[in-house]
Amino acid sequence: MNNDIERVLYSEEMLGKRMDELAKDLTEDYKDKRPIIISVLSGAVLFTVDMIERLDIMAQIDFIDVSSYFGGLGSTGKVKLIHDLKTDVKDRHVLIMEDIVDTGHTLKYLMDLLADRGAKSIKVCSLLNKPEGREVDVDPDYVGFTVPKEFLVGYGLDYKGFYRNLPYVGILKPSVYQND
Ligand code: PRP
Ligand code: MN
Ligand code: MG
Repeated sequence: MNNDIERVLYSEEMLGKRMDELAKDLTEDYKDKRPIIISVLSGAVLFTVDMIERLDIMAQIDFIDVSSYFGGLGSTGKVKLIHDLKTDVKDRHVLIMEDIVDTGHTLKYLMDLLADRGAKSIKVCSLLNKPEGREVDVDPDYVGFTVPKEFLVGYGLDYKGFYRNLPYVGILKPSVYQND
């Protein structure tokens, strides 16, 4: 698996340090808000788990499963809701946790959905942000790292469902996908 990685962009240590900083900001901002933290399956699971244990706040956690890449290299632009939340977000502060915001289609879909359901506030914390990939006008409020336009895997990010369990974020070697 490690042989398929061209270069490590963010090591486990770098991710941990940045999460400490993000958690400080979130703890401050959400101290008295009792938010629902919404983790976007599957990519955001590792980030969510490592973040919530760093947050010194009262918060509920819920999960929503949406997909638009279906394991492939590019966004289909169509976001499919695969599994919905358990919680009613009406009049609640919600914090969306994402692994990456690229075209923005996924985030736009989620923000519209939560706004429709009457959330009191909607903010987004994304480990990675790829502004050069943007096709719709959305932006995360809290960002771990701004990333270049490369195909990244690891720490939740997948290619065909694989590589999510790498402890770091790296660039996938083009030879892995060029014949697909
Ligand atoms: C990926 C990633 C984000 C989204 C970002 O999810 O985890 O949720 O795409 O891309 P966008 O800004 O272009 O919409 P994916 O659809 O691959 O599902 P997954 O999380 O299950 O891998
Ligand atoms: Mn995702
Ligand atoms: Mg994916």
